[in-house]
Amino acid sequence: MSQIVIAPATVLSLFPLQRLFAEAVVTHFSYFPAEVQKRVIKDHSVYKLMLATVDQHRVILVARKRGKIIGYAIGAAPRTGPAQLFWLYVDPDFRGANTGLSLLSRMLRHLQAMGARVVSIATHDHRLYYERQGFKHVKKTIVNGVKMDILNFRLSQAVPV
Ligand SMILES: CC(C)(COP(=O)(O)OP(=O)(O)OC[C@H]1O[C@@H](n2cnc3c(N)ncnc32)[C@H](O)[C@@H]1OP(=O)(O)O)[C@@H](O)C(=O)NCCC(=O)NCCS
Repeated sequence: MSQIVIAPATVLSLFPLQRLFAEAVVTHFSYFPAEVQKRVIKDHSVYKLMLATVDQHRVILVARKRGKIIGYAIGAAPRTGPAQLFWLYVDPDFRGANTGLSLLSRMLRHLQAMGARVVSIATHDHRLYYERQGFKHVKKTIVNGVKMDILNFRLSQAVPV
């Protein structure tokens, strides 16, 4: 069985990453209104992703299997306030093999190394997934017209492996 490799996105990975990202928005993240989906895809063009890879406050990780990109995590650690995990996604054909968890734990470690103390996420339907990894529920809110749960992970606690 070939291994799943998690690594920061490189310039060469940006085209397949952008394709998988856009596919995920219109399939899994289709609970967002159409105009939001369009804007989110535009905000993650190859050019914008390229800028993010050279931004010292941003982290883009990709998961590869036999060279194919099968998942990603996109986060940021701004100078002030909590760090954010914006997107976590694994191709449905490759789920259930710990890829999501590996992306998540690598992202938490990256954000920790960048000086973050708390990582915040907003999720529509994966509250339990994050709670199982030690995230604590903060509040319910509405983002872009969609019900979301906000959860925080304190980096002083053990990062899941
Ligand atoms: C969430 C996601 C990244 C997990 O990827 P994955 O590679 O399958 O994750 P893992 O293999 O590490 O973990 C799988 C475990 O999570 C559980 N899980 C998956 N979705 C879940 C959910 N919504 N709530 C609770 N647990 C969930 C699975 O049942 C499985 O449990 P098990 O290990 O006890 O069998 C993937 O399901 C995905 O891309 N979902 C769509 C995008 C999404 O919603 N992302 C999060 C948005 S904030």
